[in-house]
This record gives sequence, structure tokens and C-alpha cells, in this order.
Amino acid sequence: MSRNLEELPAFDFASRRRALLDRIGEGIAVFRAPPLAVHANDVEYRYRPESNFYYLTGFTEPDAVAVLDGSAEKDRFVLFVQPRDPERETWTGKRAGVEGAIETFGADAAFPIAELAGELTPRIAKAKGLHYRVGVDEAFNHRMLDLARTSWASRPRTSNDLPTSLYDPGPLVHEMRLMKSPEELAWMRTAIDVAAEAHVAAIREARPGLGEFEVEALVEYVFRKSGASGWAYPSIVAGGANATVLHYTANADRLRDGELLLIDAGCELGFYCADITRTFPIGRDYTVAQRRVYDLVLAAQRAALAAVRPGATIEQIHERALETLVDGLLSFGLLDGAAERVISEGLFKPYYMHRTSHWLGMDVHDAGAYNVDGQPRPLEPGMVLTVEPGLYFSPQLADVPEEYRGIGIRIEDDVLVTPAGHEVLSAKVPKDPDEILALRG
Ligand code: GLY
Ligand code: MN
Ligand code: MN
Repeated sequence: MSRNLEELPAFDFASRRRALLDRIGEGIAVFRAPPLAVHANDVEYRYRPESNFYYLTGFTEPDAVAVLDGSAEKDRFVLFVQPRDPERETWTGKRAGVEGAIETFGADAAFPIAELAGELTPRIAKAKGLHYRVGVDEAFNHRMLDLARTSWASRPRTSNDLPTSLYDPGPLVHEMRLMKSPEELAWMRTAIDVAAEAHVAAIREARPGLGEFEVEALVEYVFRKSGASGWAYPSIVAGGANATVLHYTANADRLRDGELLLIDAGCELGFYCADITRTFPIGRDYTVAQRRVYDLVLAAQRAALAAVRPGATIEQIHERALETLVDGLLSFGLLDGAAERVISEGLFKPYYMHRTSHWLGMDVHDAGAYNVDGQPRPLEPGMVLTVEPGLYFSPQLADVPEEYRGIGIRIEDDVLVTPAGHEVLSAKVPKDPDEILALRG
């Protein structure tokens, strides 16, 4: 199915900037778009903007800096960008330049990135504190601290009541990103629909003898042909015991009859992520043990999903999944003792070692605090999270009966919290085992 992405709504970047400016008062906030990253020698990775930077600017070129200056009368939104350069643009494509930064991206003022220090120093000197999130780029962190020090040292003695403080703007932007707007939800629904279509194609086509890499290619073909930029995280296409390695991404084996295939794959579209997992038989049917474990994971996923509603917490959703999984493991004889003790002492962890949910949005493990004032945060309409319990029996677990060893199963859906409860955004991919078998024909 080809999709008309042009009909998806535009984002109101200006109102996001206003909201952040309201929160920083007379401070100044600096966000950075990193330069291109090297893949090998003189080959670079395809560029993907930093999420906070894009969220506030809509600007998608590398090596830029956005400044929101709450202490300025005018020029409160300033962009530093790679300037126009016809010779370079012949090689790497058109740049917006300082002109485009103003005309297209709504900057009040714009400068070449090389002029950052000269323009920023007096602004930091005037502002009530610098909002800069210390990031993974050590060199740029040092540069910002150096700029701050120079700025603060340059202040006249008459302004020594201004703070020389560094604040993290991350939590402010992340709180905004956690609540998805109708425009963002339109993009997320599309991303998740595309990922769902890819999973359905893979469930139909996977057969013994195919390479995991061929199924990966099929999934990512659907992503790209639908207009997604590609994967949101490297696709996991894990046959048999490979599924017991949580971040298996080699996808280099052949699919074997009698084993299960776990696919954890989601695309990124318009910088919004999908994150879906399904597990199904490579051959005609499940073994008895596979079906027993599958039914248990599915029951845990349904119990966890049923808990998703405003006011509930991610902690409670995890507990619902855990209770179901532990009851099942006890009944299979894979654990023993009282359920409460198994849970309180974490005795289930050899088989279930990850959490059940995370926020989903521009980042697959999206921004947003999980606790507020030290307590698990209540869900609100507009939040999007995953629900993804699993069970993993590594072949190395010597005391687990043979029939279970090498089984890895996860079922992961993307879920919107609604006023009435929740909506499963990835519901187009079947997870009922009989529906899955019917789809495989
Ligand atoms: N695919 C990453 C995750 O499920 O969290
Ligand atoms: Mn996933
Ligand atoms: Mn996930």
C-alpha cells in the first residue's frame, strides 16, 4: 500500500518554542544538532536530527545550534547553521543557509555556525542562567562550558546579581514530548501502521530455509517503500535460540522448521518510531512447549494491557504481566515456592529480565520521567507506551527441561492512553496463535 504522507499534519514548532521560553523565563537555552557521524573512512551515516533539536525547530541539517533567548527583547529564536556554499552543495545537497533559517524555519536571526562564540557570549552574559543539556559529545560540552565561563567573566560588576548557573533543559522539553499532540499522533499512527504492514508481510512469508536477513530485508523493504526513513532501531529477526539474546541483530542464520521466529522491528517515519514484536512458528505449527509458553506470554500481555488507563502506572502494568508470568512458570514447574516470594526475590529473572513498558515517540525509548517526586507516575491521555512481556529460556540453562531450552518469545504492542482507557495502535498485527497460523496459510 502506498501512503500519502503529504496529507499528514505539520507541526507547530513556534508554539513549542513559546512554551519552552515560558518555562525558562529570562534564561537562555542552547540546543545542538551534531555534525555528520563517520561510518568508515570518508563515508558518513545518513543524518538523523537530535530529537529535542528537531522538536523545537523542524530543522534537519547537521552541524547547527538553536538558541532560545528569554532575556532578549527581540531575536529570541536564533539559529546557527551551515551557510550556503554552492560548491559544497553540489556534493551534499541544498542547505537552507542563514536566509532559509529565517524565511523557512522562522528564526528571528540567523548566523553561520562559525560565528557561534562571538554571538553567543554576550547573550549568555545577559541571561539568567544557561540551559544546556550535557550530551555525549565531550568536545561540544567543553565548548559550551568555556563559552559560559567567558560570558560570565565578561559581565560588568553591576550585573553580578545574575546567576552563573547551568540548568538541564532536558526535563522541560521531555515533559512536552511525553504528551503527544494530535499532529504527533497522526504521524505515530502512520509509522505504526507501516510497521504493522511489515510484520504481517513477514508472518506471511517466513519459511524454513530462508535467511533471517531475508526476512529483515522484507520488513525493511516495507518500511522504505512506505516512505519511512528506515528502522527506528536495528531490526531483530531471531530464529530459534537467537530469540533468547535480547538485542540479537546479526540476523545471519537460516530459519529452521520446528523453531519460532521472533521479530522485533519498527520503522521511523517523520522522526516518530514504531516498536512492535511478534513471535510465530517457522514451520506449520507450535510444539506443545512452544504453544504453552506462547499462550502464557500472550495472557501476560493481555493482563498488562488491561491495566493501561489514566491513573495507572507503568509499575502496575509491569506487576500485572509479572504476576501472570510467574503463576504460569510455577504451574509449568519451572519455578517453585510462593508467587510473592518469587516476585520479591526476583527469582523469575533468568526467564524475564527486562521491564514491560517504555515511553514511545521520537525516540524508541522516548523521553519523559517514569517517576515524579520519587513515585511511579500516573498515566495520562496522550501518552504512548509499549507493552512487551516475554519469556526467554537460554540453551545454557541446564536445569530447564530440554523442551523449553532455546525458546524466546516476546509480544510487543504500542499503546495510546485515552480518556476511556487505551487504544492498541499496533492491533493490525495478529497475535492470537490461531490467527497467526491462518495468516501463514
Ligand atoms: N526494540 C526495543 C525495545 O523493544 O525496547
Ligand atoms: Mn521492541
Ligand atoms: Mn520496546
